[in-house]
Amino acid sequence: MLPPILLLSVSLLAPLCYAAAAPPLRREAAVTPAADAPLPAVSATLGGVTYVNHGLIAFGLIPNNATESTGDTIGGIGSAIGLKPGTWKALDNGSYTGILVVQPDRGYNIIGTIDYQARRHEIEFTLTPYQGTANLTFTDAQQTLQLTYLNTTLLFERNDTKTSGLDPQVVRPAQPGFGASDPLADPEMPVARKDELHLTLDSEGIIVNPDGTFWLSDEYGPYIYLFTGDGHIIQTIQPPPAVLPIVNGAVNFSAINDPDTGRQANQGFEGLTMDFTTNTLYAMLQSATVQDGALQYTRLFAYDVSEPSVSVPLIGEWVVPLPLNSGGSNVEASSEIHFVSPGVFLSLSRDGNGHGGSGTKIKYKQADLFSIANATNIANSQYDSPDTPVAPKGKLIKTVTPATYVGFVNYADPAGLARFGMHVGDPDNQMLINAKWESLALAPVGSSAPDDYFLFTASDNDFLTEDGIALGEPYNAGENVDNQFFVFRVTLPGASQGVNLALGL
Ligand SMILES: *[C@@H]1O[C@H](CO)[C@@H](O)[C@H](O)[C@H]1NC(C)=O
Ligand SMILES: *[C@@H]1O[C@H](CO)[C@@H](O)[C@H](O)[C@H]1NC(C)=O
Ligand SMILES: *[C@@H]1O[C@H](CO)[C@@H](O)[C@H](O)[C@H]1NC(C)=O
Ligand SMILES: *[C@@H]1O[C@H](CO)[C@@H](O)[C@H](O)[C@H]1NC(C)=O
Ligand SMILES: *[C@@H]1O[C@H](CO)[C@@H](O)[C@H](O)[C@H]1NC(C)=O
Ligand SMILES: *[C@@H]1O[C@H](CO)[C@@H](O)[C@H](O)[C@H]1NC(C)=O
Ligand SMILES: *[C@@H]1O[C@H](CO)[C@@H](O)[C@H](O)[C@H]1NC(C)=O
Repeated sequence: MLPPILLLSVSLLAPLCYAAAAPPLRREAAVTPAADAPLPAVSATLGGVTYVNHGLIAFGLIPNNATESTGDTIGGIGSAIGLKPGTWKALDNGSYTGILVVQPDRGYNIIGTIDYQARRHEIEFTLTPYQGTANLTFTDAQQTLQLTYLNTTLLFERNDTKTSGLDPQVVRPAQPGFGASDPLADPEMPVARKDELHLTLDSEGIIVNPDGTFWLSDEYGPYIYLFTGDGHIIQTIQPPPAVLPIVNGAVNFSAINDPDTGRQANQGFEGLTMDFTTNTLYAMLQSATVQDGALQYTRLFAYDVSEPSVSVPLIGEWVVPLPLNSGGSNVEASSEIHFVSPGVFLSLSRDGNGHGGSGTKIKYKQADLFSIANATNIANSQYDSPDTPVAPKGKLIKTVTPATYVGFVNYADPAGLARFGMHVGDPDNQMLINAKWESLALAPVGSSAPDDYFLFTASDNDFLTEDGIALGEPYNAGENVDNQFFVFRVTLPGASQGVNLALGL
């Protein structure tokens, strides 16, 4: 028997057929200066609520060879994005402005990991939604989302020791008091090498709090860190033992090989999101743990961070079924999640095909929806031990109900891409959709369409450029891949409270 998710994902693999199921589109007062011929809308129903994708409405890029204030190439920035609270603004002329906080992962590492200090950048944007049907040229399309680099914040431990991106070969022991008397004491930490005991991060998720502090999730731990606005660690959240990478009975954070149990190598906490209505922080593993068969059944974790100065309690954990690709054999791992409304999330699942990836034919690149409303909460149960898988050999335990998952926004829609001068399939050039989309952010369209949001998403270009600089040294990756950004317009009933709190509106 195929799991139900397969049927859902297969129906979405025919993106041009699903318009038939869409409800009539509400036409709003002109919110854009562009021609407002209706875009084909696509709907998805989850828990009795109908969500609508109105399609791609903006495209922008930061060139592959652009540099930032440290002198390094700007790359990897689609690993995580967030709208900086207090910056989102609708202008009188139909455009919108704001600042995106973007999070690169671990630096240019095609020939091995490097001592890249973790950092976040701020990027100012002007969004001018384009809803016309005519195909823009690739150059004109970039006017719809204009991106301007502002500045960079480097990340440190508490004592100003720089973080690194090197593969963690060594475990720094937990500090006295961790897990008991001192809520701010560190757990076992991933550090680079014996002679370089500094913390190493492969950053993949970011949540900027209205007070300027920010949460960052990583793949090595996989851990979640709270930072001050100026980039110093405050606190570290360690997930349950079922998730920690364990080799021969001991934690080993290296991402070179898969551990015996826990997160797979390079499949850590890609997904991070916050429900600001309840101060619940959610993190999702990119794919299932090794003991769960390293397949479809990944896990979502919820932490109560209403009092971040205490040891943060795990209050929820659910199994989320990842989509399978057309053959049914491959799992499309999740590169990001985003809170929509209580129990409902977006999840960005994708293949590795596209510009900068492997091949030009796209099998799956979608921001989908899932709900944990009817899913079993397994937090603090026997499944938090590495010895008791929840999905032995990839088969979910019968008494555990997974999240409900439905397909939603297809990035690789040829007609939508053509309107911005882009394509799927050959040729493999700058106009081909990038391979690795890994981030999501939401902002409201405004009072003319109170359930409508702009869904911002950006790709991780792996720092691929022929004209790069890493740690001050030039490099040539043999390929130019820009940092591509998309904006879709979506109807998400019930999302307003969470989005407004996140944006400080
Ligand atoms: C949860 O179950 C109820 C009752 O069967 C159903 O009405 C609802 O649609 C389900 N929600 C989801 C998200 O699956
Ligand atoms: C990036 O490449 C373009 C096109 O070759 C060139 O015009 C531009 O000066 C380069 N920018 C940097 C920062 O090197
Ligand atoms: C609206 O004004 C802003 C700021 O002057 C400008 O950047 C943007 O391009 C304008 N939008 C339109 C549609 O003219
Ligand atoms: C836009 O481009 C696509 C792909 O080349 C093409 O199929 C479509 O007819 C074009 N649309 C218009 C309005 O020219
Ligand atoms: C980055 O630029 C923004 C906008 O000007 C400013 O608010 C912020 O303080 C700057 N951050 C740094 C680290 O310079
Ligand atoms: C900085 O803090 C870390 C973590 O407490 C510690 O291991 C390291 O030795 C400190 N470095 C310096 C230079 O004090
Ligand atoms: C962890 O595993 C890597 C190789 O996968 C090995 O090089 C390293 O020494 C191990 N570290 C520890 C602390 O055992």
